[in-house]
Amino acid sequence: MSDPFRAADRLGHEEVSLAPDELHVYAVSLAPPPETVAELETLLTPDEVERAYRFRFERHRRRFIVGRGVLRRLLGAYLDVPPGELRFHYGDKGKPSLDPRWDAAGLSFNLSHSQELALYGLVQGRELGIDVEQLRPMPDAEQIAERFFSRSERETLRRIPAERKADAFFNCWTRKEAYIKATGDGLSMPLDRFDVTLAPEDEARMLSAEGDPAKAASWSMYHLEPAAGYVGALAIEGGGWKLVCRSWDPGR
Ligand SMILES: CC(C)(COP(=O)(O)OP(=O)(O)OC[C@H]1O[C@@H](n2cnc3c(N)ncnc32)[C@H](O)[C@@H]1OP(=O)(O)O)[C@@H](O)C(=O)NCCC(=O)NCCS
Repeated sequence: MSDPFRAADRLGHEEVSLAPDELHVYAVSLAPPPETVAELETLLTPDEVERAYRFRFERHRRRFIVGRGVLRRLLGAYLDVPPGELRFHYGDKGKPSLDPRWDAAGLSFNLSHSQELALYGLVQGRELGIDVEQLRPMPDAEQIAERFFSRSERETLRRIPAERKADAFFNCWTRKEAYIKATGDGLSMPLDRFDVTLAPEDEARMLSAEGDPAKAASWSMYHLEPAAGYVGALAIEGGGWKLVCRSWDPGR
């Protein structure tokens, strides 16, 4: 079971201070009213607007504008900086972070989107990775797993009854994505070199990292159920985190 997501009324400053052991997670709809999309677009920099208008389909453009605009509003609230003034820096494999001028605040974030939902994770002084996927039937789950999952994950998936296989598949997928996004390596990290839990009855956890259970034990993994029909995962090094999950409607 995931921690419940509570609806946040607004992004006021009293809600947005992060204790050192807290993880804040936001689930946000990427389909707000058109006037909200237009307002969020005004927060984007010219290069972000250009990126948005490179999408051929309107829904893809809207999702990028809302996803990036909400990221700016969220980070702006935590940093008490006007959202349009924020600038991002990108790692070798594309992981975005705040420009070094905000290093002193120590705020890290990661985000993921799937269809009409975005998931944001924020923390102080650590890197985290987050992933969300829309649940859907997966008749070819085992074939896809051949390509992306480790040997032990594939064996576990084979043993899961047919009616629970898609859930197990997405548990595994989002947990693996969350880990490679936490490290920032993306798909340059060999996906068969680490194992995660996936059976619906098992807690989200890393089982081994490069054959080393001790390295895996130094990581925390969280199972997230941000909205009906979606599943997510968050990965972060260390333990004892307090998870605060909110859903936020940017149209309000
Ligand atoms: C790029 C990648 C990091 C995530 O891609 P994704 O799952 O398609 O997309 P998500 O929606 O989860 O995440 C995209 C966001 O992650 C962030 N991101 C980009 N590169 C990243 C990286 N190297 N590390 C962490 N975060 C990254 C960005 O904020 C991006 O959103 P934006 O472009 O709107 O700013 C990489 O893992 C990938 O290409 N995955 C493809 C899917 C796959 O084969 N997964 C195998 C799972 S078993």
